[in-house]
Amino acid sequence: MTVHLSRKYGFSATHRLHAKGLSDAENRTIYGKCNNPHGHGHNYEVEITVAGPVDAVTGRAVDLAALDALAAREVIDPLRYRDLNEEVEAFRTEVPTTENLTSEVDRRLRAAWPGVFPSGTPRLEKIRIWETERNICEVGPL
Ligand code: NI
Repeated sequence: MTVHLSRKYGFSATHRLHAKGLSDAENRTIYGKCNNPHGHGHNYEVEITVAGPVDAVTGRAVDLAALDALAAREVIDPLRYRDLNEEVEAFRTEVPTTENLTSEVDRRLRAAWPGVFPSGTPRLEKIRIWETERNICEVGPL
């Protein structure tokens, strides 16, 4: 039997929504106050969902300490208290919207997953990121 287990993490960061391919006026029209030059902060919440069988001995589907260490190394530590536009390589070219942030977190976790869970179990099922209580983006399952 496959179960899904989700674990939530949080980090604060600042960003500015500004597309380099658009004029300043177009950026103001599209992004509104999110385009303000000096940026603004969010308390992001990240939910990682894994899928796998329940181990007959431990009764668990995932080693939470291993998942926590992976999330800290690949997501929380590199993003916490950062200016996403200036300090995170992916957002030098991409606009740091919730959509692109979720994709970036998904990329980071998928790239590192086999090193932490070499058996392929559990698998990374999906990522959800709350930018605000009303703005939530989800990636996965593949
Ligand atoms: Ni914002």
